Order: sequence, then C-alpha cells, then structure tokens
Amino acid sequence: MTTHFPDDLSHTPPPGCPAHGLAAPGLRRLYGPEAEADPAGLYEKLRAEHGEVAPVLLHGDIPAWLILGHSANLSAMRTPSRFSRDSRRWTAFQEGRVTADSPLMPVIAWQPLCVFADGEEHKRLRGAVTDSLNRFDGRGIRRYVTRYADQLIQEFGPTGRAELVAQFAEHLPMLVLTQLLGMPEEYGPRLVDAARDLMKGTETAIASNDYVVATLRRMMDRKRVTPGPDLVSWLMQHDAGLSDDEVLEHLRVVLLAANETTVNLIADTLKLTFTDRRFRAHLSGGHMTLPDALDQVLWDSPPMSLVAGRWATGDTELGGRQIKAGDMLLLGLAAGNVDPAVRPDLTKPLHGNRSHLSFGGGPHECPGQDIGRAIAETGIDILLTRLPDLQLTIEEDELTWTAAWLSRHLVELPVRFTARPATGAAPGAAARTPAGETAGGTTAAGPAVPATPPVPMPAPMPVATAGPPVAPPAGPPAAVPRQRRRRGWWSALTGRLWR
Ligand code: HEM
Repeated sequence: MTTHFPDDLSHTPPPGCPAHGLAAPGLRRLYGPEAEADPAGLYEKLRAEHGEVAPVLLHGDIPAWLILGHSANLSAMRTPSRFSRDSRRWTAFQEGRVTADSPLMPVIAWQPLCVFADGEEHKRLRGAVTDSLNRFDGRGIRRYVTRYADQLIQEFGPTGRAELVAQFAEHLPMLVLTQLLGMPEEYGPRLVDAARDLMKGTETAIASNDYVVATLRRMMDRKRVTPGPDLVSWLMQHDAGLSDDEVLEHLRVVLLAANETTVNLIADTLKLTFTDRRFRAHLSGGHMTLPDALDQVLWDSPPMSLVAGRWATGDTELGGRQIKAGDMLLLGLAAGNVDPAVRPDLTKPLHGNRSHLSFGGGPHECPGQDIGRAIAETGIDILLTRLPDLQLTIEEDELTWTAAWLSRHLVELPVRFTARPATGAAPGAAARTPAGETAGGTTAAGPAVPATPPVPMPAPMPVATAGPPVAPPAGPPAAVPRQRRRRGWWSALTGRLWR
C-alpha cells in the first residue's frame, strides 16, 4: 500500500504568492499565515479536494493525514488497535525528521501520560484520573464557580466596562481548578498568573512553568502528610499506584489542558450570547437557552480544532485513503463537526444534540467534560445575571480570533453595562461556601446558586500548615502585544512543558 504523500516537498511558492499555502504538488500546509488566517476555509478546501481524509503538511513540511469526516474521526478515535495514541510509532520521529526545537514537539513528544498510552497502561493511568475527577460533586464545583465569577465581576463592575476575555474568561477556569486541586486560597491568584503566563509563551514562560511544577510538588508534599478531598490527594492515594512523577505530570496535564479549552468555551459562548438573536430572543421567551448556546459553540467553534493525534499501527484504510504503518493522523474536530454528511444545513438548530466531536471519543474521550461545561455554564450564567444589560462595544464583524494549528482564540470581547457599585467585599458565596468546604464529594451539598447578588465574600479557605507560597514569576510584560503573546506559547516552551 502507498500513501499519496509526494517525496519531494521542496518546491514551495514564496511567501506572498497566492499559492503559498499550497506546497508542491498540491499539498496544503496546516501552519503558516494562510492556514492561520482562515482555518475553517482551509478545511473546506481540503474536503473539496480530498474528501473525508486529506494529506496535509505540518511544521517543517512533515506530512500527516487530517481527518475531516465526522464518521472517519469517530472510527479513528474508537479503534485504538488500528490508530494508536503512542507517538513513538511515528515514522517521521523514527527517521529523525522532527527536530528537537520543532513546534510540534511539546504536543507530540511521547511522555508517560494517559494521553500517550494505549491498552492496559492507558486504563491504569486514566482510571486514576477519571476515578478522582468523578469524586467531585457537581454542586460543589458550581459553588466555586459562583464565588470566583462574583469575585471577578466585583473587580470590573464599578467601571461599567470590561474586556471579558482578559478579565473574565481567562481567569475563571484556573481559579476553580486550583481549588479542585486542593490548593489554599492564597495560592490561587499567583498560580493563575503563572499558568496563564506559561500558556501565553512570554519570555517568562519557562520560569512560570518551573513555578507551576514547584507548586504542584509542594502540594503533593503537603497532601502526603495532610490529605484532603481533592485531586492531588486522590491521585496519590489511588489503587493504580501512580509514581510521584506520574501524579505530578497528570496534575499538570489536567491543569493546563482543562484551562485552555474551558477559556475558549467561555469566550466563544459569551460572544454567541451577545450576537445571536436566538439567544437574545430567549431572554424574552425565545429559543436558545444557555445550555443550547454551549452546545452550539461546541459544534461550531470547538475549543480544540484539532487533536494531534493518532498513529497507524499497521497499513490500513480510512475514508478511502491508504494509510501506512507509522503515519500520523490528526483528528479534525472542527471539520468533522461541520461535515455535510451529518450537518447538511449548518443553520439548523442543534438544541440538545451532543454528538459533536469536541470532547473526542473512544477510550481517550475527555474525562473532564462535565467539569468544563459546569465551569462555563455557571460562570456565564452568573455574569449574565449580575450584569443583565451587558452589550458589546464593537460590531460583531470587528471581533478577531488568533488561530494556531490546534485551536483558535477570541482576542477581545469589550463590553459595557450599568456600573455596579463596589460592595466593599466581593460578592460571593459565603452562605454557600463555608470556610474549609471544598468541591469534593465528601462535602455536604449546599443550596442552589441564587440568581441575585450580592452576598458577602466567602471566608478564605484554611491555609495548610506548610510554609508560604514561593514568589510567583513576573507577569506577562505589558508591552508585548496580546496577539503575539498568544500565538507563540507552544513554541516558547519547546521541550519544557511536558518535561
Ligand atoms: C470545554 C472544555 C474541554 C474540552 C473541549 C476538552 C476537550 C478534550 C479533547 C478533545 C480531548 C482529547 C480526546 C481524544 O484524544 O480523543 C481531551 C482529553 C483530556 N481532557 Fe479535556 N476538554 C475540556 C476540559 C477538560 C477538563 C475540565 C479536564 C479536567 C478537569 C480535562 C481533562 C482531560 C484529560 C486528562 C484528557 C486526556 C484523556 C486521555 O487521553 O485518556 N479536560 N479533552
């Protein structure tokens, strides 16, 4: 069997040439300015040219297959015997074609994590993660979301204006996640800054990564002595017998993977609630509820456009293509979600339909999807309830996204609203979040989230007995343009992120 990848990829049109996105002969790049300017347009060109599975070029013009069809994506996700998660199988790695400083490395270099494991080893590692995540009580998580959403609203409420990507969406998931990890309250904001800085790939990213690792190690040391109802303790205690390094790496994967995706889901859903008249109409008895809006975004703007990837265990066929053993396949979640075979009419509402690909599928399907949804749904609900007259201050067509090969991010969401006077203490959930209570399953359920503010700021969580947190690294330099900072985050961390 043969692939359709050409042997000679050297005849590339120069930048600026209309054919630049097209490497010879006829292969399109999944990276670079053309691809990043309009990823959805690129997927549709590829679908028209190749059908369900298209040959593409990754950074360094290394060939891979992009799966565009909904059903072909599901096949790849659900048959690990043919499509493995183990990147060491990749022919390009074995032939030394992926250099150590390639931007692919942080995402694709094999690590002893559930993400890269198959079979029994995957079951062991993933079992520890899913069993631990499943111990969280949904109501407990929503109480944290409410508390931190209120705290963020309190910061910009008195001004009557906000930029909701930077001031809301980018903060909320990580604040909640630090609590699920069982970190003392005072660690939260510092770790949020470090993790956000790390993800943005600024010049302080390496120091921020070191800070995240040091903080997670310190938490593990504490929880060994004083375990609590939290992810760190549960992972360490799990019967799977994870080593300390395995616990640390899985904590970091959860922290980073969960944050980036949930930030995107919040930002894009907020955008939709401001711009889609079906949602606006719902507020006056119309058709789209907040859960519907989340589903619509998960279909139309998945928080991860692609998953990299799967590797063929032997010569096989997918979507009419001959795939060779060791070939790499990318799961095209965004493309699969708009496959005309499943969505002949993209304007047709999808209320209640959750058969999108945005959380993956098969044995690696996202184990944190309920948590991600709960953070997004509750956070947005609180924001819209507290500030009911929120309005965009720019036109919808002025909104911009930055895209890289794996995901795209809304750049800004500037809004205005009737200013809310500061109450002296951030409104929160003291009544709903007693001191010391955590989101763990051992916690007594509290009352439902109230629809109206304000309630007093919750008392801080008790601080565990070990010493004070280490100083966080410097925040992102203000002078660095936002767009540039976001785009480079993977490459700036090459070789360090999954260390
Ligand atoms: C809206 C938010 C989220 C989205 C869209 C999302 C999406 C995804 C996707 C597409 C995958 C890859 C699935 C595959 O390879 O087939 C994944 C894996 C994973 N996600 Fe999420 N995720 C989200 C939130 C979270 C949260 C909140 C957590 C943890 C609290 C989490 C933890 C993980 C883990 C540990 C994996 C690896 C699972 C494995 O390889 O077995 N995710 N997620």
